[in-house]
Amino acid sequence: MPLKDDDLMQKIVSFCKRRGFIFPASEIYGGFANAYSYGPYGTELKNNIKKLWWKMFVQDRADIVGLDGPILLNPKIWEASGHTSGFNDAMVDCRACQKRFRADHLVEQATGRDLEGDLKAMSKILHDEKVKCPNCGQSDWTKVRNLNLMFKTEMNGIEGPVYLRPETAGAIFVDFKNVIDSMRVKIPFGIAQIGKAFRNEIIAGNFIFRLREFEQMEIEYFIDPKTKWEPLFEGWLRDQGEFVMALGAKKKNFRRFEHPKEKLSHYSKKTVDIEYNFPFGWSELYGLAHRGDFDLSQHAKFSGQDLSYLDQISNHRYIPHVLEPTFGVDRSVLVSLVSAYTEEKVGDEERVVLKFPKNLAPIKVAIFPLLKNKEKLVEKAKGIFNSLKTELICEFDDNGNIGKRYRRQDEIGTPYCITVDFDTLDNNTVTVRDRDSMKQERVNIGELKEWLKREI
Ligand code: GAP
Repeated sequence: MPLKDDDLMQKIVSFCKRRGFIFPASEIYGGFANAYSYGPYGTELKNNIKKLWWKMFVQDRADIVGLDGPILLNPKIWEASGHTSGFNDAMVDCRACQKRFRADHLVEQATGRDLEGDLKAMSKILHDEKVKCPNCGQSDWTKVRNLNLMFKTEMNGIEGPVYLRPETAGAIFVDFKNVIDSMRVKIPFGIAQIGKAFRNEIIAGNFIFRLREFEQMEIEYFIDPKTKWEPLFEGWLRDQGEFVMALGAKKKNFRRFEHPKEKLSHYSKKTVDIEYNFPFGWSELYGLAHRGDFDLSQHAKFSGQDLSYLDQISNHRYIPHVLEPTFGVDRSVLVSLVSAYTEEKVGDEERVVLKFPKNLAPIKVAIFPLLKNKEKLVEKAKGIFNSLKTELICEFDDNGNIGKRYRRQDEIGTPYCITVDFDTLDNNTVTVRDRDSMKQERVNIGELKEWLKREI
């Protein structure tokens, strides 16, 4: 049944809390800063997404290696990358209600204009056009100021601030030399990393879409500046699209948005966002940027180290250019939830079912004894649970009637439910029920593991 978009978002937020996917963080203290915790099923889902990404982009490819760098890095890295001076958003406070907003967003909503960091012009428009506060309706603004989005902290023995990394990319560039010195990588090759990033966003929101603490999956793909980069760029866009499809998304719900030439950073030849049609509108899901040699050149300059690469065959030494495909983990989780959430009529009843791709489902198989008080059925079901759980994530459930147990598993997206009934005791077969078709099939217990592994 099609759902209205606002309804869908609200339903998903409350569903995620009720069914152990995602909880508001610090809730017993009244919540904190629009942050969320992944609950038991959400953690499995998120881990499955990260595992899939790592398999697709690192393990299955000969030209990409992995890295796991620290969150706290030498602050000079962020000077070199331009984050210390330029990673800012324009903010403004409403004097009447004390709420803080992104000034560029207020101006764009009011006038349709993008003033590209011109703080004075933003202040003038907010004042002259009496732009109203979206919270209280007054028009009493402070001056528009820049807010650096990096979180600052301190470290023993280090003078001055240390930052929580605002992206995972930084650690990749600074370990470029270590990777080429220790691994037999040859350009073109990439370094991939999954990890937390932190941004002091002026407004977090839209559930897990915009967070202050989030996870990224990033690749820096190093190429020879003389290479024709366009086909590689196109290849990355295709791979990013393939990953969105692997989350269960439909093709019509994502699209490319190429940044206009005049808005590109001076070093970028091309930047494309993959946008997704979230219930709150089309918004950035992933990005792909040609960053030239900006990062390695800057880090070479600031560190005084040689970050060039020697092509052993042509004896040509150069600073590689880089293509940067970047993926948000939390936005991927949101896409998988939005794509999977379905309400269906089954006879006179309605069921909620998360139609995840099977490999992403938090629980792969649920095992039920038909009756809780029949010792032989329970014993047999527990035996099956113990034999499957080492290879597939399983849940054992003997609570309530079978229909209710099916509904509970449908809701969390479990692809298969196995029921041990009286026939099992006679012929060693069980019913395996499919989440989507709801059809049941009898499978011999001896063949069960292979049957499930084939299907999942
Ligand atoms: N290294 C490039 C980079 O960080 P970005 O577009 O700023 O580029 C990359 O971020 C991805 O990280 C985004 O496409 C999005 O998926 C995710 N992301 C960025 N900010 C986020 C936030 N505040 N909350 C959740 N995800 C975010």
